Amino acid sequence: MAVLVDAAREIARLKLEAALPRRWSHVQAVAAKARQVCGAVPPEDRDVLVASAWLHDVGYSPGLVDTGFHSLDGARWLRRESVDERIAAFVAHHSCAWLEAEERGLGHVLADEFPREESPVTDALCFSDMTTGPDGQDFDVNDRLAEIRSRYGPDHLVTRFITRAEPEIVASVRRTQGRLAGFVAQPM
Ligand SMILES: [Fe+2]
Repeated sequence: MAVLVDAAREIARLKLEAALPRRWSHVQAVAAKARQVCGAVPPEDRDVLVASAWLHDVGYSPGLVDTGFHSLDGARWLRRESVDERIAAFVAHHSCAWLEAEERGLGHVLADEFPREESPVTDALCFSDMTTGPDGQDFDVNDRLAEIRSRYGPDHLVTRFITRAEPEIVASVRRTQGRLAGFVAQPM
């Protein structure tokens, strides 16, 4: 299954490294963090988590932009490329993207096209993305949410989304931390 991770990293590199170097820095750090926290997911899900982390922002790649909603554009492209369906679905819904889809009027489209899994992998992917800054720096989740708000400004759709998603994002991060600490014996 390491092949899965290597393939995901190579796809992400080809689509992001030259076109969006700052995004590529973020993605490399998110993938590294996913590997660090993979103890929060069952052993059989660890490669899927890390591969999803490599691919979560591939929809920002200029050649892949279609609707302009990176989670959906990335997931659709991955499906067309016959990448693992579960990974495509994690990309589609990563970091509470279903709430951003609603803000964009694409809630039903996303939900109809990709199943949304609620699992330790969902939480660990959210943790990895939401504790990593745009240049790959380590962030507390609350600082990361503040950074997103200030980057997009008070009136932007993404700021509205992140405000709505904050309780679930913070809960995901805390569940992952709990699992890592061994406080949660069973998946929720
Ligand atoms: Fe991200």
